[in-house]
Amino acid sequence: MTQSPDAPSALVTGATGFVGQHVVRSLLARHPQGRVRILARSWPKARRLFGPDIDRIEVVQGDLTDRDTLRGICDGIDTVYHCAIAVLGTFHAGTGQDAFDAVNHRGTLHLALEAIQSRTRRFVFSSSTAAMGTPTGSHVNEDTPCNPHTPYQRSKRAAEERLLELHKDAGLDVAIVRPCLVTGPGKDGGELLRLFELCRKGRFPLIGAKADVIKPLIDVVDLVQALHLAAEHADAGQIYLVHSGADHTLEQIIDVAGQIVGQRRPAVRIPKPAAWVASQLTTPVASVLGKSPPLSPQRLRLFLTDRRIDISKARQQLGYVPQMTDLHEMLGRTYIHYVRTGQLQP
Ligand SMILES: NC(=O)c1ccc[n+]([C@@H]2O[C@H](COP(=O)([O-])OP(=O)(O)OC[C@H]3O[C@@H](n4cnc5c(N)ncnc54)[C@H](OP(=O)(O)O)[C@@H]3O)[C@@H](O)[C@H]2O)c1
Repeated sequence: MTQSPDAPSALVTGATGFVGQHVVRSLLARHPQGRVRILARSWPKARRLFGPDIDRIEVVQGDLTDRDTLRGICDGIDTVYHCAIAVLGTFHAGTGQDAFDAVNHRGTLHLALEAIQSRTRRFVFSSSTAAMGTPTGSHVNEDTPCNPHTPYQRSKRAAEERLLELHKDAGLDVAIVRPCLVTGPGKDGGELLRLFELCRKGRFPLIGAKADVIKPLIDVVDLVQALHLAAEHADAGQIYLVHSGADHTLEQIIDVAGQIVGQRRPAVRIPKPAAWVASQLTTPVASVLGKSPPLSPQRLRLFLTDRRIDISKARQQLGYVPQMTDLHEMLGRTYIHYVRTGQLQP
């Protein structure tokens, strides 16, 4: 098939979500005459989000769970940016493994098979540190064994494993980027919305006397940078951890979030033993009610575990240099988005 000169050479999935929309905008900015193909479940949502730029976007309406809607989606595509995902909160808390796997694992496989069939040059997967679960040990790098234990985490890790298998067995040229929690404008809901809500009420639960555990963040600007670097410079079959490179502690994050929402005491301090007991008691009850427990054992472990995530591989092999490191700026941009979109009261 002869390719028309303005045919899209990049496909972005999850383009109507947080990270994907930034990838689309960056591609349009990098190639002023170019076009981008996106996978979207809703055409009206894509049109609303991209405004006049929709003329430069080829929308394929489809669903990762339905392979038939993906047929030919990678034809003529040089680079796939796979950012679509069913994340925490997408489903009811009681949702089991299969619902996450349908999108995150099997949906990723459907897309990867299309990429192989169309001989796509590179498949970039926006994965997550969630794929690692809660690894033991405080120093974490790409070689640290994964220990996923929630349905979401398992589905993310399963997707990574399948992609790496397809790299070995079928020649899929894949690069996997694993970001930490992402700041910046564009998210519907998510953990940072919850953070601001809790801080405003003065109810963010800080467990133990000190909250000096390091909680790395990454701004969406830097995640997009990392995805492009992975598209261009990664070795195939490699995983890259990325974050801002600044060792922000949970205490600092809460402090800055408190300043932003105008709450001088954003947190309640809970002694560790009390938190464990509360977590053990409330989790089974919440599960029966089909609700998220206020403090699941996994979440508790996440609060208390100091994980130093090493990003030297991305720095050295991709040339990744984080641009956004100022916590006020990172959280401030996120807050403004939530207020502008009516998700938070000013
Ligand atoms: N945000 C973070 O803090 C964070 C942290 C670490 C890693 N990541 C990773 O970055 C990637 C993007 O995350 P995000 O925050 O941008 O997620 P998001 O805002 O929830 O967006 C998810 C996107 O996936 C689409 N999607 C969901 N199910 C689909 C399906 N069955 N078929 C086709 N599309 C489907 C959604 O479509 P609709 O628009 O139609 O709903 C949406 O566009 C994910 O891989 C995530 O694991 C994000």
